Amino acid sequence: MDAAIRINTLSKTFGNGRKALQQIDLTIAPGEMVALIGASGSGKSTLLRHMAGLMAGDASDEGSIVIHGRTVQRHGKIASNIRSVRSGIGFVFQQFNLVGRLPVIINVLAGTLHAVPMWRSLLRWFTPEEKARGIEALRRVGIAECCAQRASTLSGGQQQRAAIARAMVQGAKVVLADEPIASLDPESSRKVMDILARVNREDGCTVVVSLHQVNVAMKYCARTVALHQGRVVYDGPSVGLTPAVLRDLYGAGQAQAGRAICEDRQRQFRISQLRRQRARHHRLAGRPLRRREPAVLRADRRHLRRPEGHLRPLRRGSAGSAPGARDLAARTAVPEDRRI
Ligand SMILES: Nc1ncnc2c1ncn2[C@@H]1O[C@H](COP(=O)(O)OP(=O)(O)O)[C@@H](O)[C@H]1O
Ligand SMILES: [Mg+2]
Repeated sequence: MDAAIRINTLSKTFGNGRKALQQIDLTIAPGEMVALIGASGSGKSTLLRHMAGLMAGDASDEGSIVIHGRTVQRHGKIASNIRSVRSGIGFVFQQFNLVGRLPVIINVLAGTLHAVPMWRSLLRWFTPEEKARGIEALRRVGIAECCAQRASTLSGGQQQRAAIARAMVQGAKVVLADEPIASLDPESSRKVMDILARVNREDGCTVVVSLHQVNVAMKYCARTVALHQGRVVYDGPSVGLTPAVLRDLYGAGQAQAGRAICEDRQRQFRISQLRRQRARHHRLAGRPLRRREPAVLRADRRHLRRPEGHLRPLRRGSAGSAPGARDLAARTAVPEDRRI
């Protein structure tokens, strides 16, 4: 099958001589959900903007970007039919890019503008079917009740969900999201990422999402592409992001967090394997599954319940020296007045 996104030897040098992208080669298959990670200034936004045809690469290069068989840019020139190519590409910005004084539904229906005549778009006149599609998209992202509100009255998370609804109404087969959760609280971030994952899973959209948080990339995307100073330094399974790769990208802090996440993933995988083995064993023996799980699974589950960053079991007697133990002890300490 043809690739959803194909980038060949793309480079970008800004006027000030800054090389933001250097010889990028990337192929993304239809239906993939790919995380784009890298430190600030590594070139994530620049790459996404090139994919959407909002920026042209270096003219001196052979660079090209093709999306679903249609050329976005080639040899530093944006395709002349870019408006039509862009209609298949949804772009979700960090700062939502909604028109604050217009109702949410009009912002969402702006996604159909490529398909409606100019006079209708100027008059903001949409057919009942178009409006129904807009409401349906807002329902899917969970904010149908806000459709008549001004966009500026929505919370950040709701505005981002409206921006995704706009891409849905547009019928985009490729969704590019540039740090969509960078300015959101954790709960809104989770909702926005869940919606992007649903768009990917249920609509078969190819999603490329740039993220700062490695743990979010690992949770939602099977594949991660890491950029460092405009070059691809990692392209592979997200679970393969080793502490060494993370250290190169971000320094020691994220590497530590990354290691904890990797261990957690491996433990979860082991538990699911044990569960499957146990179910198979009982099926073969013709016995119903016991409600109570074997001790090994219970012990492992206790690991998973520990707060993030405390994945290592704390050995009795060594609590003072175990990493994060003091923190954990402080959280679980019984107040003096309640001690027996
Ligand atoms: N319009 C511009 N003019 C000059 N340099 C730019 C411009 N946009 C981005 N850059 C530079 O390109 C590099 C990559 O930027 P960017 O793609 O925004 O990184 P990221 O999104 O990973 O933080 C940075 O060093 C940035 O300073
Ligand atoms: Mg950026």
